[in-house]
Amino acid sequence: MKGILERALREINACSELSALENCRVKYLGKKGELTVFLRGMGNLSPEERPVIGRLVNEAKEEIETLLLCQKERVLKLERERSLKEEEIDITIPGKRFARGKRHPLTKTLDEIKSIFLGLGFTVVEGPEVELAYYNFTALNIPENHPARDVQDTFYITEDIVLRTLTSPDEPRVMEKTKPPIRVLIPGRVYRADDVDATHSPVFHQIEGLVVDEGITLGDLKGTFDLFVKKLYGEHMETKFRPSHFPFTEPSAEIDATCFVCEGKGCRVCKDTGWIELSGAGMSHPKVLERCGIDTTRYSGFAFGMGLDRLTMLKYGIDDMRLLFENDVRFLEQF
Ligand code: DAH
Repeated sequence: MKGILERALREINACSELSALENCRVKYLGKKGELTVFLRGMGNLSPEERPVIGRLVNEAKEEIETLLLCQKERVLKLERERSLKEEEIDITIPGKRFARGKRHPLTKTLDEIKSIFLGLGFTVVEGPEVELAYYNFTALNIPENHPARDVQDTFYITEDIVLRTLTSPDEPRVMEKTKPPIRVLIPGRVYRADDVDATHSPVFHQIEGLVVDEGITLGDLKGTFDLFVKKLYGEHMETKFRPSHFPFTEPSAEIDATCFVCEGKGCRVCKDTGWIELSGAGMSHPKVLERCGIDTTRYSGFAFGMGLDRLTMLKYGIDDMRLLFENDVRFLEQF
């Protein structure tokens, strides 16, 4: 009996997991355990031996039970300590840095321009980049033999489908669907068969504006554009109109603004004129309006179209257009 007890003591003390302890319990006290078997065999003992041995076995049983309990407490404590250690959080370890993206300078400028025109009651709409030649040229009063239609300037997909060369085709698209009053701003990507250099790219961005209502005059165009330029670049800015020609406007103008680098004094950016060109514009040509079913005895309109890339380059002093398209992070990080 002493042998069994000593063995049990050793084995129980060596247990470091609850499952091992349970195995020990079964081994000694289970239905087929060593002590149980021993007790069952007591029938074979003589009546004198039975009480003596019985007491010894019961004492051994109690002792093993106590040992098991004590060891269980110890194991539980160890397990708790182990899991606490594993789950410990070291609050002194520095946090992981998240890479933070930035808006592209073109997006920043566009967002600013949009918010100015939204404030003036304009709606922002967009049209298709793959466009019917009809909207890109014919609906804009660009004649059949006009050089703008040339394959050297325009990417043709088929004879009748082009990559739009300007955002102006969205003007007739809007006018066909909407009755005046119309006030829309139409930003978008446009394509021309140009070689890449510091000021040209076969893909660039324009922002078109169109207003059609009763009694719209050149004064409305001037007032609207002047206010826009002052909001975008500052109250000190002036604008002036230079006569120009576009097939879809009559009269047509180029709008210049005070050079914001030298503030009109003359510098490299404005080629010493003190002015920089910002936009084409004009009064919507009656032929363009009529084609869209707009009654020109009642309504008139103005339109403008400006280059977002150019506006962005001027705003941030970027001297090479390619930077806007290469997406070099070292460049983009600066905005
Ligand atoms: N679409 C012209 C261009 O690409 C710019 C332009 C001029 C747009 C006059 C207009 C406009 O809406 O009225 O050069």
